[in-house]
Amino acid sequence: MANFLIFGPPGSGKGTQSELLSEKYNLVHLSTGDMLREEIASVTSLGQRVESIMSKGELVPDEVVIEMIGSRIEANTGASGFLFDGFPRTVEQAIALDEMLAQKSTPVATMLVLEVEHDELVKRLLKRAEVSGRTDDMDTDIIKNRIAVYSEKTAPVASYYNNKGTFDSVPGMGDISDIFARLCKVVDKYI
Ligand code: AP5
Repeated sequence: MANFLIFGPPGSGKGTQSELLSEKYNLVHLSTGDMLREEIASVTSLGQRVESIMSKGELVPDEVVIEMIGSRIEANTGASGFLFDGFPRTVEQAIALDEMLAQKSTPVATMLVLEVEHDELVKRLLKRAEVSGRTDDMDTDIIKNRIAVYSEKTAPVASYYNNKGTFDSVPGMGDISDIFARLCKVVDKYI
């Protein structure tokens, strides 16, 4: 069993590449952003609680996402590996994930870090806003806030895994297929 984290700022391509990687390597794709959007679409009490936080581009509380991820790990006991997308986003979440995976004796193989220039992130998200209906894509100020929240609260997670020696930086500019090939080259080292 090999577990991977896919990491990078909003618009870096985590979701796009996760779809391709999870299919190729038979990994269970766990995206906290997708799970939270499903809660909002289903108008659950959790969805109602997080909707305004997400529409501003802020992070939802750690305990909410840690519990969501914990229950998905438990629900997929036969998985050949997990691909975590958008989680962990704080050092507290990273510590919680390490503890959950340690209980299963299945640590993180590596963090795949997509490196994308700031202007390209904004360009991709504004383009998606034309079709996605995502409230956090529709306004340049909200997009900038999401990138600022990433720099302040989420970027330290990369240092956390780098210090543990489980970190691989991957250029995330260019064609989706070229980026996928770069990621596969890294993943192949661990599988
Ligand atoms: P989340 O859903 O995780 O969003 P995000 O990190 O802002 O990432 P995006 O989905 O916008 O981008 P991505 O990197 O996945 O890129 P994508 O492949 O989609 O989180 C949303 C919110 O939920 C957070 O702000 C927070 O409020 C909350 N949340 C989630 N997890 C949380 C957690 N752990 N803790 C606390 N709060 C949490 O691509 C983007 C666009 O670019 C697409 O249109 C795509 O088609 C396009 N694209 C992709 N690659 C390329 C390429 N190579 N060239 C051109 N276009 C490309």
